[in-house]
Amino acid sequence: MDVMNSEEEMIVTPWEVRGKVDYERLIQEFGTQPLTEDLLKKIKKHVKELHPQLRRRLFFSHRDLDTILDLYEEGKKFILYTGRGPSGPVHVGHLVPWIFTKYLQESFKTRLYFQMTDDEKFVIEPNLQLSDTTGHAYDNALDLIALGFKPKNTFIIFDVKDIGLLYDIALEVAKRVTYSTARAAFGFQDSTNIGWIFWPAIQAVPCFIHAKLTGENVPSLIPAAIDQDPYWRITRDIAPKLGYYKPAQIHCRFVPGLGEGGKMSAREPDTCIFTTDTPEIIKKKIWNAFTGGRPTAREQKKLGGEPEMCTVYQYFLYLFEEDDGKVLELAKECSSGKAVCGNCKEKLTERATKFLLQHQKRRERAKDTVEDFFIEH
Ligand code: TRP
Repeated sequence: MDVMNSEEEMIVTPWEVRGKVDYERLIQEFGTQPLTEDLLKKIKKHVKELHPQLRRRLFFSHRDLDTILDLYEEGKKFILYTGRGPSGPVHVGHLVPWIFTKYLQESFKTRLYFQMTDDEKFVIEPNLQLSDTTGHAYDNALDLIALGFKPKNTFIIFDVKDIGLLYDIALEVAKRVTYSTARAAFGFQDSTNIGWIFWPAIQAVPCFIHAKLTGENVPSLIPAAIDQDPYWRITRDIAPKLGYYKPAQIHCRFVPGLGEGGKMSAREPDTCIFTTDTPEIIKKKIWNAFTGGRPTAREQKKLGGEPEMCTVYQYFLYLFEEDDGKVLELAKECSSGKAVCGNCKEKLTERATKFLLQHQKRRERAKDTVEDFFIEH
């Protein structure tokens, strides 16, 4: 059995995240920049309020965000680009960067291109058929739309359906990336199928698609979890050769699952809350969540809990408590032994259920509008 523990070696690739993630080390190893206080101040000039995910440094690293802001201040617009690998249903962890993307979109009045990589997931996942991934892509789009994105400035790219739109740029990219560069970035093996080897060219395309669609050459900013960085490394290398701006990025942490350690993963369905879970299931999952709490209430009172280990606390931090003061209070009450896990779980269940029931209604309504988000070409 694959037991997760903090001794386990850290592995972070676009396909696998394992072990205890050391974010400082990732910044070093990937060669990205930390999101500094100065940069937050620069963002603050353009937004009503810093988003909780910025204040709490859930977004913690970037490439060229400063350049994007400088250009913006000179009157140069940018576009946002993010995406999803539709390998299954969406869970609340996926919503975290999307919610942040919406905030950026509203604050900077930009277009968003959102890529559904039904081709990638088909090529990579041995057990998925093409009909599975194209189906998930459509279904996952409902979750995106349910967050309130508008069709006038949000364009969803479904790779398989839209390949005719993407293919010429993908070829331009692919021609300029050598096999050895791609292998170094992605760790391909002799047994890797060749679909997977060409595929990164497709993830590069939405960085540049705006110019093809509108004739306007503007830079892109990509909010994404940091495991996607290898894609942008190769894209940044070739962008100037094609006459485009290097794509900028803002990276977030992985939303933890409800189990001990690791990110929320649909491969372990009991440890993640899907957007379509019923109140009973939500309650059960949260009730079984790992908190690191002491075995008895008496010991908890005496020794206190450890919020940084507790998945319930993490959920308040990432998504379900907007008020920084209250988050701080939760942490204090936990470590001082004043809070007991049962109460926190109850409170989280209440918040998560309320949020998801609302989301599910909007998701249903999105079925009527999803086609408005398709790109005409
Ligand atoms: N490869 C990503 C995944 O498996 C999907 C994706 C495509 C993406 N383009 C993106 C994610 C841009 C973030 C930003 O999830």
